[in-house]
Amino acid sequence: MSKARLYSGMQPSADSLQIGNYIGALLQWRDLQESYDAFFSVVDLHALTQPNDPAELRAKTRRTAAQYIAAGIEPSKSTLYVQSHVPAHAELAWVLSTITGFGEAGRMTQFKDKSKRYGTDATNVGLFTYPVLMAADILLYQSDVVPVGDDQKQHVELTRDLAERFNARYGQTFQVPMPVIQTETARIYDLQNPTAKMSKSAESDAGVLWLLDEPAKSAKKIMRAVTDSEGVVRYDREAKPGVSNLLVIYAALTGRQIPSIEDEYAGRGYGDFKKGLAEVVVNEFGPVRERALALLDDPAELDRALAVNAEKASAVAERTLGDVYDRIGL
Ligand code: ADP
Ligand code: NA
Repeated sequence: MSKARLYSGMQPSADSLQIGNYIGALLQWRDLQESYDAFFSVVDLHALTQPNDPAELRAKTRRTAAQYIAAGIEPSKSTLYVQSHVPAHAELAWVLSTITGFGEAGRMTQFKDKSKRYGTDATNVGLFTYPVLMAADILLYQSDVVPVGDDQKQHVELTRDLAERFNARYGQTFQVPMPVIQTETARIYDLQNPTAKMSKSAESDAGVLWLLDEPAKSAKKIMRAVTDSEGVVRYDREAKPGVSNLLVIYAALTGRQIPSIEDEYAGRGYGDFKKGLAEVVVNEFGPVRERALALLDDPAELDRALAVNAEKASAVAERTLGDVYDRIGL
């Protein structure tokens, strides 16, 4: 039996990924690539919706791809490619935009939040049609499943609606994908503001752990992480968001259960606990960082892997796009 198809991607919106991207996405992708026919994209077309310096965008795209590989996504096992290398993404997005309602797109909460925050004049049409491009990403590969954070769930719902609408109007063309929402314990919060999601686009990076930072710098950030005055290492998201967040990171990186970590640190202070976590983080990220930097040091190999995989992705994407064009009269 052939493997089910899986699609996911991340924007190259920073020089480094953060630990939330690693725990909430990359670690899961690494496991999923064993049981699925997985497509992992660096979505540089999506990144254009924010202002970018061209040379920096190109560098961030490469750096993001290097971090996928360094975290264990294997370009010989998964189709790991850069979105803009496959022109069918933009082409299918155009077609899908013609079957998307204006009001339907306007109901996407991520767009509503962003346009409210920055004002409609500082907002661009690309930000408005972003979910349509995301639908094209997913549908081009006839994806069965799409692992996403819960902030993207609405976009996958739109993708399903568009697939069903197109199929009903023109005949069976697209697989209708299922979202796979990450578990609550895979959600990482800012170390300085532990009720806000850790993000690579956070305004201050004091509470962000970067995959490519010097290990000593990450250790320092952990030692300074916000906790509480109780002094007990105990999981309670409501009353103890800081300590709970650190426990979740600890558990995710070691594969241990939270109660076993609580037991280990029973009767000891936050200082000991943070030192323990800093060691875990440094041990995990040290090698990932070195692999990523080695790939970036000599990018010929990385670029070759991306080119080969872009061809693999194109072959699948062109087949879908050809069907679509056939059906709609192009
Ligand atoms: P960021 O906010 O860092 O720019 P994105 O929104 O681009 O991250 O998300 C990229 C991927 O990383 C998604 O799969 C998302 O679910 C995951 N992710 C991002 N931040 C976190 C976090 N704090 N905790 C868990 N997963 C996260
Ligand atoms: Na982001």
